[in-house]
Amino acid sequence: MLVNFIDMLNKAKENHYAVPHFNINNLEWSKYILEKCNELNVPVILGVSEGAAKYMGGFDVITGMINGLIKDLNITIPVCLHVDHGQSFETCKKAIDAGFTSVMIDASRLDLNENIRITKEVVDYAHTKNVSVEAEVGHIGGTEDNITSSATNATLEDCQILYENTHIDSLAPALGSVHGFYKGEPNLDFNTMKIINDNLPIPLVLHGGTGIPNDKIATAIACGISKININTDLQVAWSTAVRKFLTEDTSAYDPRKVIGSGEQAIKKRIEEIVTLFKTQI
Ligand code: 13P
Repeated sequence: MLVNFIDMLNKAKENHYAVPHFNINNLEWSKYILEKCNELNVPVILGVSEGAAKYMGGFDVITGMINGLIKDLNITIPVCLHVDHGQSFETCKKAIDAGFTSVMIDASRLDLNENIRITKEVVDYAHTKNVSVEAEVGHIGGTEDNITSSATNATLEDCQILYENTHIDSLAPALGSVHGFYKGEPNLDFNTMKIINDNLPIPLVLHGGTGIPNDKIATAIACGISKININTDLQVAWSTAVRKFLTEDTSAYDPRKVIGSGEQAIKKRIEEIVTLFKTQI
């Protein structure tokens, strides 16, 4: 069933584990993630960036596809269909109207007042439809949808001001994580993470989960992170397996076999990640 993230993230916050957010790119990825998470009996958040939504044809295509997979594959775990880094009210509204159960409004590139204004507009609309809202304070750097941006860290004060003025359901404070690959060891500000967690009543989100060593993931969860976003990790696992398959079988041409040659690699990484996040329903 499609649900918002409120229940799954509150449970995670209370019991000190993190719910996985996996970005989806197509039918196959969605199917692999749903099948594996259902087998492991863990809730999952399917993240869709604006670029991925455009690639797949639009938000209506995606809700149709995910609802169909849930029905035809008998998926019984809670599944949250979430816009990742929605850049505007219009994008979030379009997704909500198409049946998404959750959105991230990312106005973190703007100043705090503008971030608050746009985030509040999204919350006011989303909450009338039982849709959860995540926002970002500071700015998470790196490369997302081929757009490179630089990072600014969040402060407790800005997080509190944004929360009090918008009543979002979760917050991604930028604290040193980046999208895509890290140059060297990730340098996460765990002190501020813990202080923000201790002073806000909502679950915290860690973006840029790829490449963060296991012990730092565990520390982030101990500091209050309840949702961790993973994108590049599964892309690398899938493309490595497909490259190997095509190199070993130069006469392969059936797209089901080509795309499907990455299935086990994605499912294996999902199991490892879910175990690391210690997710329970
Ligand atoms: P990675 O690509 O670094 O895993 O980041 C994913 C993410 O944060 C999506 O919002």
